[in-house]
Amino acid sequence: MKALAVLSLLGAGLASAQVAPYGQCGGTGYTGSTVCESGWVCQFQNDYYSQCVESTSTSSTSTSTTSKASTTSSTKTTTTTSVKTSSTSSTSTTTAVASSTDYPSTTGLNFTIDGKTSYYAGTNSYWIGFLTDNADVDLVMSHLNESDLRILRVWGFNDVNTVPSTGTVYFQLLEDGTATINTGEYGLERLDYVVESAEAHNIKLIINFVNNWTDYGGMAAYVAAFGGTTTGWYTDAAIQAAYQAYIAAVISRYVDSDAIFAWELANEPRCQGCDTSVIYDWVQTTSAYIKSLDSKHMVCIGDEGFGLDTGSDGSYPYTTGEGLNFTLNLGIDTIDFGTFHLYPDSWGTTDSWGNGWITSHGEACAAIGKPCLLEEYGVTANHCSIEAPWQRTALDTTGVAADSFWQYGDTLSTGESPDDGNTIYYGTSDFTCLVTDHVEDIG
Ligand SMILES: *[C@@H]1O[C@H](CO)[C@@H](O)[C@H](O)[C@H]1NC(C)=O
Ligand SMILES: *[C@@H]1O[C@H](CO)[C@@H](O)[C@H](O)[C@H]1NC(C)=O
Ligand SMILES: *[C@@H]1O[C@H](CO)[C@@H](O)[C@H](O)[C@H]1NC(C)=O
Ligand SMILES: *[C@@H]1O[C@H](CO)[C@@H](O)[C@H](O)[C@H]1NC(C)=O
Repeated sequence: MKALAVLSLLGAGLASAQVAPYGQCGGTGYTGSTVCESGWVCQFQNDYYSQCVESTSTSSTSTSTTSKASTTSSTKTTTTTSVKTSSTSSTSTTTAVASSTDYPSTTGLNFTIDGKTSYYAGTNSYWIGFLTDNADVDLVMSHLNESDLRILRVWGFNDVNTVPSTGTVYFQLLEDGTATINTGEYGLERLDYVVESAEAHNIKLIINFVNNWTDYGGMAAYVAAFGGTTTGWYTDAAIQAAYQAYIAAVISRYVDSDAIFAWELANEPRCQGCDTSVIYDWVQTTSAYIKSLDSKHMVCIGDEGFGLDTGSDGSYPYTTGEGLNFTLNLGIDTIDFGTFHLYPDSWGTTDSWGNGWITSHGEACAAIGKPCLLEEYGVTANHCSIEAPWQRTALDTTGVAADSFWQYGDTLSTGESPDDGNTIYYGTSDFTCLVTDHVEDIG
């Protein structure tokens, strides 16, 4: 999912080619064509993404040409490339059942956490590492623990091209062909606290390393600093060197933490129009690199699950148009489990179509012998009636071993956490339906 962000802005350029059905046609940082093929119109989804949809479908007007913002930065915060060695305290007084060597793992087609093999429920909070008040982080973690949302997926990246004003969190500055990791108070120390709090509350984290989308920098931020194109991101030597250095810096901080569920290559990697070998090669190289640094934790991709023959109805998500082949990538040795997302509103499919999407992935994962995580799913209205059936299907499908809805919401010291329409706030009736009831079903 593309999340709302504080942003930097690159103008939308002009291009001549017409965009294919369901392709991107606008959004912050997007420089391609804004004209859809005949019979299709460019529909605004959010500041970062507009998409070609059938012109007969419910039209919401605007073709996004976003503008604005861009921070004029002054002071540089502590930015250094040195890497702090992991020291998140394990001083918590909780009577840990798990030994320190008990890392989350797969057991056949299921996940095992702290020795318990079961289906697991989880959620997403892209913003938790960007909070500056430890009490807010602890509040969220304690609500997750109490609710039995055992898996939390967070953004482990926050890339900028210019240093923001002091007090604004960022993790890496990409500028003029140089990458500088921010290990300071408003840098990776914020992620350190997320891991520390997760350890204290028995929450297991999925931490990812880069965004396909431009929010919080993403691949486009690398391209802005190093040159090239976004589809060339996966093969550019300088970019991949910086990306790997960033991965190494993050992993070294938490390599011994039992609060890490898995390392994740990217959020929703895509390479539109590319041969599937481009992403396949990148997944193979990157996941092997991660395993060379840390053989104890699991590794996953973070893709949307696109490009699947099993159960295919030929609709857009089943095709390889975004450069992904689900089973090909899941077959890679150094990938421990599969990930897939579900957003019918963005994909031109119906809500009930989602059930087939879930069973197709379960079947494909079972055939490969690795569990799958329904890692993101959401709608912007009627959450309970649409998403609860998907949860039921996921729970009943062999090969689907966990789900994490997009996205968790709570009331922080600064007010409500971000709402992109998909947010399920702690304590609401939607939360009862999609968390309390779901966890009860899991048993
Ligand atoms: C986690 O939740 C359980 C069950 O509600 C509770 O007993 C335990 O104290 C919680 N742990 C923490 C650290 O909040
Ligand atoms: C993310 O995916 C979209 C859709 O394929 C693509 O247009 C865009 O260029 C990608 N972003 C980057 C930075 O690669
Ligand atoms: C993915 O790759 C496998 C192996 O090459 C191939 O058999 C399958 O048809 C591909 N899937 C799609 C959706 O193209
Ligand atoms: C593992 O998963 C399978 C299929 O989803 C399920 O039938 C089985 O009960 C699970 N095993 C355990 C120990 O949870």
